[in-house]
Formats: sequence, C-alpha cells, structure tokens
Amino acid sequence: MKNMIERPTPAHVAIIMDGNGRWAQKRHLPRIMGHRAGVQTVESIVRTASNKGISFLSLYAFSSENWRRPKEEVSALISLFRLYFKSKAEELKENDVRIRFAGRRHPFPSDLIDIMDQAEETTLSCKKMQLILCLNYGGRQEIMDALQRIILEAAAGKELNISEDTFRDYLYLPDVPDPDLIIRTSGELRLSNFWLWQSSYSEFYFSDILWPDFNEEEFSRAIESYTQRNRRYGTV
Ligand code: IPE
Ligand code: IPE
Ligand code: MG
Repeated sequence: MKNMIERPTPAHVAIIMDGNGRWAQKRHLPRIMGHRAGVQTVESIVRTASNKGISFLSLYAFSSENWRRPKEEVSALISLFRLYFKSKAEELKENDVRIRFAGRRHPFPSDLIDIMDQAEETTLSCKKMQLILCLNYGGRQEIMDALQRIILEAAAGKELNISEDTFRDYLYLPDVPDPDLIIRTSGELRLSNFWLWQSSYSEFYFSDILWPDFNEEEFSRAIESYTQRNRRYGTV
C-alpha cells in the first residue's frame, strides 16, 4: 500500500553497477567492451542524479574481491579508470560535482593513484553533488582498517571512547551520510561486500537491467519506489 506522504529525494544513493560482462557476452564481445559501455551509463547517471538534487552518489566500481578476475580484465579496468578520471575531472568541476574515492589505494599503480588524488584536488570545492567512487573497496576491509587505526591509537596511549558514532570517524568517509537507497543492477540479489557498516538501514532496489542498459527512466523508477517507502528504523 502506498503511503500518503511521499518521502523526499534520497540524500545518498549508492549503486552496485553490475552486469557489464553479461551485456558484452550477449553481444559476443569481450567483457571489457561491457565495461566501456558501462562508463557511458556512469556519465548519464551522474548527470541525472545531480539534476534530481541527490547530494551523494556512490558507485561501486571495483571491489576488493575483483582482483580475482583474469589479469587482462583487471588491467583493462585500471586503464578505464585512468582514462575516465583524467578526462572527466574538469567537466565534473564545471558541473560543481566533487569527486571522492573510498577503498584502499594500494595496490593500484602509482600513476592511477596520482590521477585519483588530482581528481579529488581539482573538484575539492564543488558543492552540488559528491560523486563517490568505490575502488578496491570492501566493507569488511573498511571495518578492519578502522579497527587497525583504533588499535594503533590505543597502543600509542590515546584515551578512546568507542561508540557507534566515534567508530564512524575511523571509516573511510565519516562525513558522508549512510546510503538511503542502494540500487543493484543485473538481477543479482546481494551486497557483495558493499557499504557493510553504512547499509544497516538502507532501502534496496534491485533491477534486472544490465548496467550498460541502465538509464534515466529506470533510475527514476528506483527513486520513485524509494519515495513510497516507510522507513521505520525499528519503531512501529
Ligand atoms: C560489474 O560488471 C563491473 C565490475 C565488477 C567491475 P561485471 O563485470 O561484474 O558483469 P557481470 O556480472 O560479469 O555480468
Ligand atoms: C560487485 O559486482 C562489485 C562491483 C559492482 C564493483 P561483482 O560482479 O564483482 O559481484 P559478485 O562477484 O557477483 O558478487
Ligand atoms: Mg558481476
């Protein structure tokens, strides 16, 4: 049943961009062609999200488990990241979009790390939307990295009072609000190690559409579905 009152546009939308490989396979193309087509979708969804007034858009682009893929696919993805961040930072800046990364920088090649740093730097003062790219991101790794820092600080004698709120300060992007809506494309129904800590009360939207075919219309459908939901957070 629909609620009487629509909830506002989500502040943070997170997307698990899945299905590039299958999109390519269906066309008898190498998987990397699917990733290339996926970049086009990224561009259109970034525009759409910004036009809709979404403040934070996070995109899962490479998981900490994706290193298990064939070497050629991993290096083709790294080349795509290089190309995208190098060529798009200025355009994102013009559109007032701030780019940030979540995930471990290591073991990406140092020239890619430089490009990532540069893209963050170029767009640092942009205010309209934050575009968060999760690259070599894993939710468990993020929690383990936080724990590691806490242990080091404790060992150095810092007095720590760890609560849910103070723990958040040790996550990769503590100032970014939890995702209100998590979208996954391609019909898979799992989180695959995405935003583990942050997703405890996220709403989910699963789409059967493969990422390269995902478009403004389906994105709007996901947002529309979200605005009709009743988020209870354990209350009645
Ligand atoms: C998602 O598409 C993109 C990345 C994980 C980099 P996939 O490459 O996982 O596509 P499928 O799931 O094999 O179709
Ligand atoms: C999740 O997709 C990671 C990204 C979209 C970057 P995968 O295709 O890697 O996930 P699994 O292996 O099917 O769970
Ligand atoms: Mg996949």
